[in-house]
Amino acid sequence: MAKILVLNGPNLNLLGRREPEHYGYRTLAEIMEDLDRFAGACGHELSWVQENSEGVLVDAIHTAANEGVDYMIFNPAAYTHTSVALRDAMLAVRIPFVEVHLTATSAREPFRQVSYFSDIALGVITGFRGESYTLALQAIINIIEP
Ligand code: DQA
Repeated sequence: MAKILVLNGPNLNLLGRREPEHYGYRTLAEIMEDLDRFAGACGHELSWVQENSEGVLVDAIHTAANEGVDYMIFNPAAYTHTSVALRDAMLAVRIPFVEVHLTATSAREPFRQVSYFSDIALGVITGFRGESYTLALQAIINIIEP
């Protein structure tokens, strides 16, 4: 059994009513519920966190390491494009992670095409709305059980 943490950055608490033409109509809780069910059915323990502040996200990454999290699914949201602090935290704890985005960031505004995480992630999944998380979990499960 692996411990998997899903870490969500700013404004993702507004999923369902935030720019639904980009992010869809499902709430974060609904997406996480399905993901939790999928992880449980595969015998893994999933937990999830959403925070709006950069420092609190850094603390959550440190806590994940102290609690023995094996893998992370990380949607840094807007911090994807700005945060050296979160990148450094991920490098410090060395927890392998998949970077996810609901939208196809490479097809959006130029500033969204920069990621501080893609080069240190196991892989990156973008553009499938809530399904991006499911695909990330499937990828992690494939690594655990080749
Ligand atoms: C996002 C993409 C980011 O550019 C944006 O700031 C978000 C959400 C996504 O999941 O598509 O808040 O990470």
